[in-house]
Amino acid sequence: MIINLTYYHVAKDVPEVNPETAVVIDVLRATTTISWALKNGADSIQVFADLDLLRESAIKWDANERLMLGERGGKKIEGFDLGNSPLSVTREVVNGKRLFMSTTNGTKSLQKVQHAKHLFAMGLPNRKAVAEKILSLQSENVLILGSGWEGAYSLEDSLAAGALACYLVKKCDFKVNILNDEMQAALTLWDFWKNDILNCLKTATHGKRLTSLGDYEDDFISCSELDCLDIVPAQVERGVIRAS
Ligand code: MLT
Repeated sequence: MIINLTYYHVAKDVPEVNPETAVVIDVLRATTTISWALKNGADSIQVFADLDLLRESAIKWDANERLMLGERGGKKIEGFDLGNSPLSVTREVVNGKRLFMSTTNGTKSLQKVQHAKHLFAMGLPNRKAVAEKILSLQSENVLILGSGWEGAYSLEDSLAAGALACYLVKKCDFKVNILNDEMQAALTLWDFWKNDILNCLKTATHGKRLTSLGDYEDDFISCSELDCLDIVPAQVERGVIRAS
């Protein structure tokens, strides 16, 4: 048995194939928020790239059982219930609800690989949980997709891709093949920053963007915590994610 790992920085680089297993990463902050929302009892999260489609779908849902959340450019979307902070998806707010979500990059990446047989969303807090799930599935081919920023590379997503690959290489009883240079570079990046994750997130361009928008210190802390969540957000039907 082997695991072949491939990493792409952004959705547009992914070839038109249906991966066996895909892991989407948006450390700052979409996949961290998804993971915390599910931990705090959200029923499910339906992701959209398009805001009109999101509104059309949300309106069909019972008003007491739905929330619209998301951001553009890091800022909450007008008329939405929540922005995209992992701190906002508390149990009191999300428990039992369907979350209709759209973000600048993360939800687009999730849509890009929605035809994968297994699709998971991962941030640093649930890195170990997702890695253990991959090992239990014994998937031969795993495609890891960062979300980047509007089609460009992001430091923090590559850091998390390296963290996932590092865990798999260490814990896997069988051979792990690193299939592309992006994956190899992500492993090196993880090795460089693994003891200073918070600083890496703040150094990243999107980290600086968030800092310029306001006080995001608690978001940075939440997004940089490693292996503290046992949640594996998995796509259960096209665009719909539940805890598995
Ligand atoms: C995204 O999808 O680009 C991010 O989650 C943006 C953010 O920090 O809210």
